[in-house]
Amino acid sequence: MTSTYIVALDQGTTSSRAIVFDEHGAILFTAQQEFAQIYPADGWVEHNPEEIWQTALAVTKEACDWVKERGSTVAAIGITNQRETTLVWDKNTGEPVYNAIVWQDRRTAKFCRDLKQEYSEQDLQARTGLLLDPYFSATKITWILDNVAGAREKAEQGELLFGTVDSFLIWRLTEGKSFVTDITNASRTNLFNIVKKQWDDDLLALFKVPASMLPKVLDCTADFGTASETLLGQAVPILGVAGDQQAATVGQCCFEPGSIKSTYGTGCFVVVNTGETMVTSNNRLLTTVAYSIKGTTHYAVEGSIFVAGAAVQWMRDNLSIIDNASETQRLAQSINSNQGVYFVPALTGLGAPHWNPDARGAIFGLTRATGPAQLARAALESVVYQTYDLLQAVREDGIAINNLRVDGGMVANDWLNQCLANILNLEVDRPKVLETTALGAAYLAGLQLGLYQSTSELAERWQKDSEFLPAMEETTREQNLQGWRKAVDAVLGMHQ
Ligand code: G3P
Repeated sequence: MTSTYIVALDQGTTSSRAIVFDEHGAILFTAQQEFAQIYPADGWVEHNPEEIWQTALAVTKEACDWVKERGSTVAAIGITNQRETTLVWDKNTGEPVYNAIVWQDRRTAKFCRDLKQEYSEQDLQARTGLLLDPYFSATKITWILDNVAGAREKAEQGELLFGTVDSFLIWRLTEGKSFVTDITNASRTNLFNIVKKQWDDDLLALFKVPASMLPKVLDCTADFGTASETLLGQAVPILGVAGDQQAATVGQCCFEPGSIKSTYGTGCFVVVNTGETMVTSNNRLLTTVAYSIKGTTHYAVEGSIFVAGAAVQWMRDNLSIIDNASETQRLAQSINSNQGVYFVPALTGLGAPHWNPDARGAIFGLTRATGPAQLARAALESVVYQTYDLLQAVREDGIAINNLRVDGGMVANDWLNQCLANILNLEVDRPKVLETTALGAAYLAGLQLGLYQSTSELAERWQKDSEFLPAMEETTREQNLQGWRKAVDAVLGMHQ
């Protein structure tokens, strides 16, 4: 029997990857290319759109070729992507007018602060589920239109298009034929009303974004257009799209209200499915669209941390104390306590629940004995403490948590998972397929293709690889958390 092949394109913050899945959700082939991070000024983070495109195209083509070499064709493409990252391009030439402004970018912090004086953040939250923070796309678009010569005039004449990475890639893969996005990506812009499920005219006016720039919003399972044969060597329908955290929610089969996952990539994102009901957080978590599958929309509460894996990457690339991320496990477990060293990795400000774009990173408790082991351990522990803060906020919003499904590159590290279980005082479950984000995109495409009939069919496939149970004395746990709280308070105190 021949397999049905689905290619999931995962365009992430640091690399583009394409994975070939079969109908059982098994990974058959992976292609990956990293690309450059551009830091033009303090708090600014950009990507070259052509690098996003070239790496995404190259890996997708590689995956399609792999299938072709086996005498078969790709049945569908699913796309998942770094969210909020903002691209504006010329609709006639296809040329971006500026680099992609990345979700981590804080350049619009002052704009957000000023806007808060004249516009109610509560009103924004009621419409979009989001907060007034540079994280989201709206102020990034405004910045481009106000700072790139001639951009605003062209936008007003209908010459420019805005898209999150999914839209940009679909537009290019379909050679300009499809200008669309999916509802999860739209729900991260601060321009999309998640109650009415449409672009919000009042917010377009507030952020001065012409409606003509915006893509059509589709369900996560839909016909997003056909990727061109000229580009891929075969024409392939794009049938599933979701932002990466929402795709991970699907890949982790968190379909039931109350189910919760945490993904450890560049950042860390805790997503709790709240079913068809929107829950508004009282603790500065976000309300967002979890997915919309075949017309049914599920919402989620999300806690977003900007720096998780990025802290380890920073130790590798900027401090050179490790050669690769996997060394952190050996280093962390080479000492039996954190020795009072705490790292608050506010390298691009702090996300939930603090939302302080001006905060910057700090390491506390350094002594002459501090070396790579203490620093690596502090970096890993910072990810755990931040997850703790998010889960506390979730609990304070009245949502019960029984266990946590984790995924993303970092959770290959057993030490980290055990530390999570200890500090969260919660069962931590790691699935067999760690490429949950890509799997989610493949599942969405498979649902639209008719390969899978329902989310419950998918839920039956979820398999646990290992579970980590809490095993830390309460006093030690409390001591650690106290050390962390003091460190965060000190950072917040410096940047009010
Ligand atoms: O909201 C930003 C998020 O989508 C980026 O995810 O995987 O790069 O940490 P990741």
